Amino acid sequence: MRVAVDRVADAVFERLLRIRSGGLVPIESLVRQWEGCHDYFPSSIRAFNRVLRELNVTGDDVFVDYGCGMGRALVLASRLPFGRLIGFDVSHELLQAARANIQRALPAGTRERITLAHCDARAFRLPETASVLYFYNPFHGDILQAVFADIERSLRQRPRPVRIVFNNPAHFQLVEAEYGWLRRSREYRFEYPIVVYEASAARLPSAE
Ligand SMILES: C[S@@+](CC[C@H](N)C(=O)[O-])C[C@H]1O[C@@H](n2cnc3c(N)ncnc32)[C@H](O)[C@@H]1O
Repeated sequence: MRVAVDRVADAVFERLLRIRSGGLVPIESLVRQWEGCHDYFPSSIRAFNRVLRELNVTGDDVFVDYGCGMGRALVLASRLPFGRLIGFDVSHELLQAARANIQRALPAGTRERITLAHCDARAFRLPETASVLYFYNPFHGDILQAVFADIERSLRQRPRPVRIVFNNPAHFQLVEAEYGWLRRSREYRFEYPIVVYEASAARLPSAE
């Protein structure tokens, strides 16, 4: 029942925001090498808004969506006072849809805060200013490990508070214990669980 309400809310918000980001797109229809990569499916708007609002972000915060798909989360996050927003995806097709959505939904002056990039998560290097990292279960296995190694690198390079929002951490939970520098700070139950982690450079193991 709650899921049905979420889907109706998604459809209403999509009309209000003038975006088209609904539906499931199988990853194998988007990229040739898809091992470890997950399908496109957008975040629930109600769940995303609730969790992100409670982070109380400021203009100093920089948002990163790992696997931004058609840009729904970026458009929603841009309504909060983030100084900058970054989204990347492995699919050209989805990024094209994200560009169109951003163009339709956001006025000039707001959309310039958003940077989109075509990139595989394994090649992405987290900027030293990034502070709120968003994952909606985009990949698993080696890709997840490479991404968390990069976050660790970025934290060592510039120690700072970083919050990681994991929407449906089913795969991440299997390896979560390997990252002693993360602490669960909030947990929500929506269609899928959403967990907010706080990352601390002070808890990183000493570099060999
Ligand atoms: C569940 S969707 C989430 C979409 C968006 N973040 C949202 O919340 O609406 C997962 C996304 O991750 C992308 N993805 C999967 N594997 C990836 C990889 N290796 N590098 C970058 N993006 C990837 C998919 O193309 C898809 O758009």
